[in-house]
Parts: sequence; structure tokens; C-alpha cells
Amino acid sequence: MSDPASSASDPAAPIVYALHDVHYVYSGGHVALDGIDLEIRRGEQVALLGANGSGKSTLLKLLDGIIGPSAGTMRALDRDVVALADGEDAFRFHREVGLVFQDPDIQLFSATVFDDVAFGPLQLGLPPEEVKRCCDEAMATMEVAHLADRAPFELSGGEKKRAAIASVLSLEPQVVLLDEPTASLDPRTKWVLVNLIRRLAAQGRTLVTATHELDIVPIIADRVVVLGENRRVLADGTPDEILADRDLLIRANLIHEHLHEHGRVRHAHFHGDDGHHDDPSAEVDHHLVDLLAKPTA
Ligand SMILES: Nc1ncnc2c1ncn2[C@@H]1O[C@H](COP(=O)(O)OP(=O)(O)OP(=O)(O)O)[C@@H](O)[C@H]1O
Ligand SMILES: [Mg+2]
Repeated sequence: MSDPASSASDPAAPIVYALHDVHYVYSGGHVALDGIDLEIRRGEQVALLGANGSGKSTLLKLLDGIIGPSAGTMRALDRDVVALADGEDAFRFHREVGLVFQDPDIQLFSATVFDDVAFGPLQLGLPPEEVKRCCDEAMATMEVAHLADRAPFELSGGEKKRAAIASVLSLEPQVVLLDEPTASLDPRTKWVLVNLIRRLAAQGRTLVTATHELDIVPIIADRVVVLGENRRVLADGTPDEILADRDLLIRANLIHEHLHEHGRVRHAHFHGDDGHHDDPSAEVDHHLVDLLAKPTA
């Protein structure tokens, strides 16, 4: 696979998302997005950064076609998103695009992990052997096969996250949207999950991951889109460009000014997995992520 940290997006790849001056206003009148211009191409791995309330989750819901823009134009996989959100062709669209919510309890509602993973394929009316194949693959990718008969509510946070992602993967979507996949995980579990996210990238999927965790960004993304507190795109660039721009990160409320004043250099070392996971981590073992470049000391 190409390394997400260094690969550039392919300008010849088909456009998956095209948003022009997209606004989204919640029913109470709250403006969540205020003029988003964004294009995402097939095979890109995009990290979506922004302060709390900047509109990341709202944007992911739009990309998933479960809500449509209040104003502006937006196409997803050649479909108009307003029509999609009204239900037109939504069934087929959701085979191609899957959203993993931040809270896995929203995604996991069945008696067993297997039932949750099988839910989508069964809804599609796939034959039993095809359902089993899709589920086995999704559970293998997320390493939850051993949890198949467990009740989701009794799993740990990290296990739930992996099961929730498997329940989305069983539909074999080409686009996977992840809302803060590593939030509230311990460091070891977080890096295991990062490793599994890399595996999705290695399969050539288009990934959009909302996160607050800057240290994972170069590992899971080849492009970074920053939403500003004005609810528009504040910056769009490579992880190296964005993470080296401390003024931008402070402006977007992604790092605190004190870090700036102290001129600290912070490093995150990616050590891959814990020995139980194979391949995708190998090429980023000992990868050094220089988060806050430009030391002033
Ligand atoms: N259901 C809703 N009804 C009304 N306003 C909402 C709703 N959901 C979100 N908002 C508002 O829309 C804005 C964007 O919220 P959103 O959840 O998209 O932000 P976010 O960037 O995902 O934040 P966080 O980092 O805290 O997850 C916020 O000001 C929020 O209060
Ligand atoms: Mg959010």
C-alpha cells in the first residue's frame, strides 16, 4: 500500500464528494456549517480537524447522506445529497458509504456482535452464504471474530469500537467515515485501532476521519481539512503542512497557546501494534511524527 503519511492524492481519481458553499442549519435555527467548499477524491484519506462545535460531526452526517444541506450544492458519488437525504437511492448509497458514529452504543443494538455485523447484509437481502462471507471478512479486518457471540453491551470500549466499525464494513463500503474513532481509548487500544484504520486505507478505501488527536493524523491521513470556528474550511493541506503551522493550530483551537509559548517539541512514535496484528503497521514502525515543529528553544 501507499503510506498515507506520504502519498499525495491522485488528481485523476474520480470525485467522490463535491461541496460548494454548503450550509447546514439545525431545526432550532443553529448554524452548524456556514459555507463549506470541499472536494474529496476516491482513495483519499482525509483527517477532519476542528474545535468542539466547529461542525465535524455535522459534516460527516452530510457526507453520509443522512442529512442534506440547507443551502449550497453537494454531490456524493454522483448523487444529489438533498435527494439522498430524502431517501432517494439511499439504500444503494449506504452500501457504498458507511459512517461509524463516535458513540458505538448507537451502532450496536443487537443481542450479539455477529448479529450487529450481519444486520446490514441481511437488510440487503443477500443470500446466507454471502452474508456470512461479508461478516467474516469485516470481523477479520477488525479482529473481532472471537467476539462474535458476545453481547455488545458487555464489551470494553476498544472492543465496541472495533465491532462498530465491523458492522459498517460488512456492507463493504468504498467510503468509510469515522467520527472520533480513538476518543476515550487508552493509548495501547488507540494505536491498535489506528493500525486497523490503516488497514482500511490499504484496501484502497476513501476515508474521512474526524479527530482531535493530532498525533494520529499523519498515520491515518494524507490530507488534513481544518474547520474553523467560523464553521468554514480554514485550511486544507498535507499533514506536514498543517501540523507544522502552529499559528493555524492555535487559531483553530487545536492546540493551546501555552504550548506555543513554551516552544515545546512534542513527538509521537508510532510503534505499530502489540505483536498480535500483522502487516499494515510494519512500514510505519518507528515512524516519527513531529507534531509541533519549529522549536523555538
Ligand atoms: N441536533 C442538533 N441540534 C441543534 N444544534 C446542533 C445539533 N447537533 C449539533 N448542533 C450544533 O452544531 C454545531 C456543530 O456541531 P457538531 O456536533 O457538528 O460539531 P463537532 O465539530 O463535531 O464538535 P465536537 O468536537 O464537540 O464533536 C454546534 O454548535 C452544535 O451545538
Ligand atoms: Mg463531533
